[in-house]
Amino acid sequence: MTLRRRLIAGFLVIAVTLAIADLAVAVIQRNAVLRQLDAQLESARPLAQKIVNQFTQRDPAGDSTVVKGGTYVGHLLPNGELVALVTPASDPTMSPDVSDPSALSSPRTRRTTSGVTGRVRVLAAPLKDGSTAIVAVSTASAAAAAQKAAITMGVAALVVLAVMSLVIAWVNRFGLRPIRRMTDAADAITAGALDSRLEVVDDGTEAARLGAALNTMIDANRVSQERLRNFVADASHELRTPLTTLLGYSALYEAGGLATADEVNDAMARMGREAARMARMVDDLLLLARLDEAGGSVLVPVDLSGVLTDVASDARVVQSEREISVVCPESFSVMADRDHLLQAVTAYVSNALRHTEPTTVLVISAEQRGTQVRIAVADRGEGIDPEVIDHVFERFFRSDTGRARSSGGTGLGLAIVSAIVDEHGGRCGVDSEQGVGSTFWIELPLLEQRIR
Ligand SMILES: Nc1ncnc2c1ncn2[C@@H]1O[C@H](COP(=O)(O)OP(=O)(O)O)[C@@H](O)[C@H]1O
Ligand SMILES: [Mg+2]
Repeated sequence: MTLRRRLIAGFLVIAVTLAIADLAVAVIQRNAVLRQLDAQLESARPLAQKIVNQFTQRDPAGDSTVVKGGTYVGHLLPNGELVALVTPASDPTMSPDVSDPSALSSPRTRRTTSGVTGRVRVLAAPLKDGSTAIVAVSTASAAAAAQKAAITMGVAALVVLAVMSLVIAWVNRFGLRPIRRMTDAADAITAGALDSRLEVVDDGTEAARLGAALNTMIDANRVSQERLRNFVADASHELRTPLTTLLGYSALYEAGGLATADEVNDAMARMGREAARMARMVDDLLLLARLDEAGGSVLVPVDLSGVLTDVASDARVVQSEREISVVCPESFSVMADRDHLLQAVTAYVSNALRHTEPTTVLVISAEQRGTQVRIAVADRGEGIDPEVIDHVFERFFRSDTGRARSSGGTGLGLAIVSAIVDEHGGRCGVDSEQGVGSTFWIELPLLEQRIR
């Protein structure tokens, strides 16, 4: 059930409860007044007997007995005839219904057979001669009391209900209606209206904050969807290039275009290289996908100098003519996935090997910077064009497409570094000056300081 329905249901329950309470108060009030009337009747009973006796024994005109105002006194003869002796000034012709007088030994409510009064409270008092004295009093005061109580209570209830409906309208206006609108908009977005956002009036309500939060989420979702779309498009495009080469050679072979054994060997070698590049790209894509799955990695303390020396040794095997030095003055420990960290530093180093002349020097270093340790791979290459330097960490970015492609680069190396650094809660970047060289760096939180 929606909150709005619940509110309305609650409102109705309270309204019904108030109505019942109103009725109960009226009944209680009426009964209280009736009890008073009954007490009045009981106290008038001996007086009534006295009055009747006086009337039957003496001349009625000589009567001087005073009866409480509004009280009726009558004499019920054994033959059923009722003789009025005292009648209220407000209703001189009043005559109560006294059929079945034996039931009237205690006060009863009866109708009247004449007069303007509608209902009376009647009590019978038997006399020694077998006839009966009757006292009666109008119940109008009880009805009036009940009515007054009902009206007072009813007005109070109406005020309460009016205030409640104001509150409900208010909650609906500032809480529920905006949420309903947002739900509709969210449904529309789910159904495909991807460009729409929620209308949010910043009035400081919870609904407004919810709307703003939803909009932030929608935007983030849109950005990540777009990134994913671009990534898939780029990946397909990148995989297509080697695939085209492979298909080209196989078509050429089928058409008899590869006549000599040399031509076949050459084609097979090229096909092998393209296939290897595709395999590298698929491996890189798989690694990136795994790194994108957050929370999967287990970080353990890793000694940094060991990682840097391993990377340098591997690089010296690849390019024995290059001068590669490791500068790690202290023994730094970081929380890391060792294989991933090794892969990140290797990506920097192999870029330097690929994108700079083999005769230039390469320095792999680590130094403390506050609570962080900065790993740097510095080369003396040509540096990076300032126009593209902001893009080098993007997926599939290659500034020098032709050369990088021919040298087998996938354009994913630095993107993988960035993902690995995210996995470690660190930062990465590049400082480069054209003609001087580039320094690619990674900063990670230092685990322990100065362990010698
Ligand atoms: N040390 C470097 N010196 C000059 N340019 C570099 C260096 N490292 C990376 N780059 C540039 O950044 C681009 C992206 O690098 P990367 O993501 O590793 O892709 P790839 O190495 O496959 O081309 C490279 O294509 C290159 O143009
Ligand atoms: Mg690379």
